[in-house]
Amino acid sequence: MSVDFYRHQLGDDEASEWRKVIGTTFLTLGPQVAAFERTLGEYLVRGRENGAPPAVVGTNSCSMGLLLALRALDVGEGDEVITTPMTFASTTNAILLAGATPIFVDVEPDTGLIDPKRVESAVTKRTRALMPVHLYGQLADMRALSDIARRNNLCIVEDSAHGIEIERDGVRPGELGDAAVFSFYATKNLTSGDGGAVATRHKDVEERLRRLRNHGVSKSASDRHGGTYQHWDLVELGYKANLTDLDASLLRVQLPKAEAKRKARESIAMRYESELLRRIPELGETSSRGVSGLVARRGRSSHHLFTIHAKSDKRDALLAHLGECSIGTAVNYRAIHLLTYLQKLLHIPRGTLPIAEEIGDRTISLPMFPTLSESAQSEVIDAVAQGWSMS
Ligand SMILES: Cc1ncc(COP(=O)(O)O)c(C=O)c1O
Repeated sequence: MSVDFYRHQLGDDEASEWRKVIGTTFLTLGPQVAAFERTLGEYLVRGRENGAPPAVVGTNSCSMGLLLALRALDVGEGDEVITTPMTFASTTNAILLAGATPIFVDVEPDTGLIDPKRVESAVTKRTRALMPVHLYGQLADMRALSDIARRNNLCIVEDSAHGIEIERDGVRPGELGDAAVFSFYATKNLTSGDGGAVATRHKDVEERLRRLRNHGVSKSASDRHGGTYQHWDLVELGYKANLTDLDASLLRVQLPKAEAKRKARESIAMRYESELLRRIPELGETSSRGVSGLVARRGRSSHHLFTIHAKSDKRDALLAHLGECSIGTAVNYRAIHLLTYLQKLLHIPRGTLPIAEEIGDRTISLPMFPTLSESAQSEVIDAVAQGWSMS
């Protein structure tokens, strides 16, 4: 690749914390996990006056965190969960694995975020939860969603895989939702290769999350072996979804650097926007459904992904051109309800969620990471402009 899609920033600080953990006894669910959970909780309320931190429970992935959060909130068999089709498989998989049914509502054409205006009319007697996704690192309209949740007695599980850094209308992940779930997967802004965490302000939910991530047993290994041996009990059916101390040590040392890296991403996003618009004025145009070439900004974004919308029917040609130019790309996302398994299961015909489908057919994610150099970014912009004019 001449320009990678993503590069992680793990370096000497992370390596030296990781090495320290190797010399200790508990490599999982031990003191590093507890310290990271505390520090992430404090990070989420940074700068807030009277901001009591939420409880944070580390997990081995966001995918498992989403499932644990639904289980901890007793969402399951027979329940409906309203969610967005503009997301990764994990969101719907978690709903299905919990035994519930995903109900998709269409997204806002300018942001790709779940459209609160469409949520209330999708509520039925069986609806138990809303599962918004803070797509690309922009918070969904949590104020509007939490009003709907309150009126209809629903809980909210936020899929915040794309950012811990984000805020909109004074709201951060985990402040209005019952649980917010983060990802530390390899490509994420904060990473340990794989990893996740759930933030919640409910004590009972926290306790269940801690138990569910550890098989459903009453004591973790460090509880059992920390002093005199203590018996454990199997209290409910759980999963093996621990965050390890090795991963927690990598994550904790990245937290103080998160805002500087977010700002670097922001400058890159701004340059992409201004340069691409200058070179391709068509990106500023809006389709009949209100989808334009660039995503509208809402609040403080983590800038996890930078996406553009290609001309209709020209996305795959542009992807192929960027591939030929050795530029790393991704598609986040093709509308999830159209993918094979969900088609077989739910039979939602194309045309049902037209805005998500249009975005899903047109979207391309361009290289985005804090150390992307100006010259590499110019290479990407040149290749996009060239590919656009050819398509
Ligand atoms: C929107 C969204 N939700 C959930 C996940 C799952 O995260 P993880 O890989 O940590 O399970 C991802 C991962 O890419 C994601 O993009």
